[in-house]
Amino acid sequence: MESNNSLQTELKRVKQELAGYKIELHQTRGYLQSILQSSEDIIFATEVGGMLISFSKGGEKVLGYTWEELVGRDIKDLAENPLLFKEFMSSSLQGGVTTHLDLPFRHKEGKSIYCNVTLINLTNREGQRVGTVGVCRDITLWKKLQEDLVQIDRLAEIGRLAAGVAHEINNPLAIIGEASGWAGMVINDAKGLTAEDRSELEKAVKEISGQTKRCRNITHQLLDFARRSEPEKTEFDVHTLLKESVGFLKPELKHTSIEIDFDFMPGPLLMRSDPRLLEQVFVNFITNAIHAIKKAEKDKGLIEIKTLRTDSKAEISFKDNGVGIPPENQQKIFDLFYTTKPPGKGTGLGLPICQNIIKKIGGEISFHSEVGVGTSFTINVPLV
Ligand SMILES: Nc1ncnc2c1ncn2[C@@H]1O[C@H](COP(=O)(O)OP(=O)(O)OP(=O)(O)O)[C@@H](O)[C@H]1O
Ligand SMILES: [Mg+2]
Repeated sequence: MESNNSLQTELKRVKQELAGYKIELHQTRGYLQSILQSSEDIIFATEVGGMLISFSKGGEKVLGYTWEELVGRDIKDLAENPLLFKEFMSSSLQGGVTTHLDLPFRHKEGKSIYCNVTLINLTNREGQRVGTVGVCRDITLWKKLQEDLVQIDRLAEIGRLAAGVAHEINNPLAIIGEASGWAGMVINDAKGLTAEDRSELEKAVKEISGQTKRCRNITHQLLDFARRSEPEKTEFDVHTLLKESVGFLKPELKHTSIEIDFDFMPGPLLMRSDPRLLEQVFVNFITNAIHAIKKAEKDKGLIEIKTLRTDSKAEISFKDNGVGIPPENQQKIFDLFYTTKPPGKGTGLGLPICQNIIKKIGGEISFHSEVGVGTSFTINVPLV
């Protein structure tokens, strides 16, 4: 009788214990489910061979697949390089319980998703491996930012170097310029020179002084580019400034059949900004247009300069019927030193300087170009 009683007590205790375990199991399962449902990471489980048996909601979002599309698939086939992933899986078997590596997965639409992958071996009570759990964090954006930072660093370094070189070259250039002026005077006063020799020497001196000026222009532009001065603010009429900019280019336009057509909005276009900076932009655009038309060798060159006012902005466009820019070159034209002009003609500084200035005064540049038809550059700048 007594042993029956103690058996019943024991049974009750085991029952209670079991109920406790059940609750615990339920809670643990709920806890796991909530992690799998709410985590933004890819969390997966596979059987020994690598076949997927569970995949988190976050994982579905990151890689673009639904669980129905993944069930039964091999995890390695979701990696960009399945062989590498398989190697990583096998090394994690020998290497211990957890292993980490940065690896790219392939999104359903084909793009790469870089992940920091942690693999955990699942074992049974006998210590035999029964599968793998993986936790993978999407680090694509972080990787891109890291690469951008390296690139920005490199560009800043090149900028500093270029500004340094420009600064150092300035002084010798000034001396060469002065010396060429002096040599010109000496030739002028020199006696006993044949007319032919004199003309040759004069030509050479003129060339030296012209090319020196060109070099100084380049170094000044580079130094301007590197300097972080604040733009000034004065009120001026954009139309007057555009006409003045064309006026500066009279010598370039001489002996050409290029017509400049002003299509201005009625009245003045008043703006409060930095007129000297804008003028530099206008001159650069018009110069490029003149060169593109000359290169196209058309009978009739035309540059249309159009202005518009939209709310708080001025829109100014420069349209030419020059050679146009081939599609493959269009993304390069704002690169520092990119030029298609022959050596000694272009420096490839015009457009990067324009872009730098327009950014400084809070505007934007856009362009459209077709080979054989022409190019139009449009700038949008705030009126104040
Ligand atoms: N209006 C245009 N039509 C056709 N190509 C153009 C036009 N504007 C610019 N480009 C192309 O973009 C390149 C870069 O222009 P950018 O003004 O920066 O330098 P560049 O004119 O070559 O030299 P720089 O202005 O320093 O003397 C040019 O060499 C040319 O190939
Ligand atoms: Mg130019």
